[in-house]
Amino acid sequence: MAVRRFGVSLEEDILDMLDSYVSDNQFPNRSQAIRHLIEQHTIDKKWMCNNEVAGAVVMVYDHHKNDITKQANEIQHEYHHLILSSQHIHLDHDLCLETIAVKGQAKELTYLADKLIALKGVKHGKLVMSRA
Ligand code: NI
Repeated sequence: MAVRRFGVSLEEDILDMLDSYVSDNQFPNRSQAIRHLIEQHTIDKKWMCNNEVAGAVVMVYDHHKNDITKQANEIQHEYHHLILSSQHIHLDHDLCLETIAVKGQAKELTYLADKLIALKGVKHGKLVMSRA
C-alpha cells in the first residue's frame, strides 16, 4: 500500500512519551510506533462490537479471598449461554487457575470477563478473543 506523509503537532512532553515508547519497544522510527498504536487502538475497539468471537478468560485467584469461588460460579451461571467449558486447576494451597472458554458477541464477552476479573481476590485476569 502507498505510504503518505502528514505533519503531526504534539506538545513537548507528549513527544517525549512517544520517543520513549519508540526506544522502549525498539521501533525503527516514530512512524512505525504510531502505526502500531493506531492498529492496537482499532483492534481494541473492534472487541466492543457485535462480532461473533471465541476466546478464553484466564484468571488466577486466591480462593480464600471473600466468597470468590461462589461469586465466580454465580457469574458464570448468569452468563452460561456464552460459556463453552471451564477448567479449574488448584495451583497450590492458595491459588487457583481458571480457564473459561467462551463464544458470543465480543461486547458481551468483554462484559462477562470484566465482571469476573473485577472480583476481589483476582490476582491476574485476561480475556483473549479471536474471530469465530
Ligand atoms: Ni482451586
